[in-house]
Amino acid sequence: MARKVYVVYASLTGNTRKVAKAIGEAVGATLVDVRRDPLPEVGPEDVIFVGDGVYGARPSRAMFRALQARALPQGVKAAVFGTYGGKPRQLAVLEKILQEKGAQVVDRFACPGRDWFLLGLALRKHPSEEDLKAAREFAKKVVG
Ligand SMILES: Cc1cc2nc3c(=O)[nH]c(=O)nc-3n(C[C@H](O)[C@H](O)[C@H](O)COP(=O)(O)O)c2cc1C
Repeated sequence: MARKVYVVYASLTGNTRKVAKAIGEAVGATLVDVRRDPLPEVGPEDVIFVGDGVYGARPSRAMFRALQARALPQGVKAAVFGTYGGKPRQLAVLEKILQEKGAQVVDRFACPGRDWFLLGLALRKHPSEEDLKAAREFAKKVVG
């Protein structure tokens, strides 16, 4: 079966969605918004990108729930990404969950995202065109 690429993401205020779309377009991936749709059944040859914002130093509850609900094939190729206001602390958490589920996390990417926790006053230009360009390059490198 042909290899599929999935971009599984959650986004409360839209920043991570922009990055998810950039990644999806760069590598021809299927986008899955876990706030709306369940995780797809991922095959052993597929690639899965998992992305989220960081909220109180953690990924979103929607993402925790979605990842818990579905097994992954052992050794499946995965990469994590996200947006942040201060520090991308969600990435290490996402990476740990994926590794515990048997995935092989090969890379990570983060960029700033306009911070609505600070009333949208901080980082208002992010993700920027530069950020999205870097996201596309990250995606191509992961998929190879
Ligand atoms: C309720 C809330 C809590 C947040 N907590 C953090 C945090 O703990 N650390 C941080 O770096 N950014 C934090 N932020 C900033 C977001 O992570 C950042 O704006 C991110 O781009 C949001 O992604 P999204 O637009 O995809 O939801 C918070 C934002 C919101 C709205």
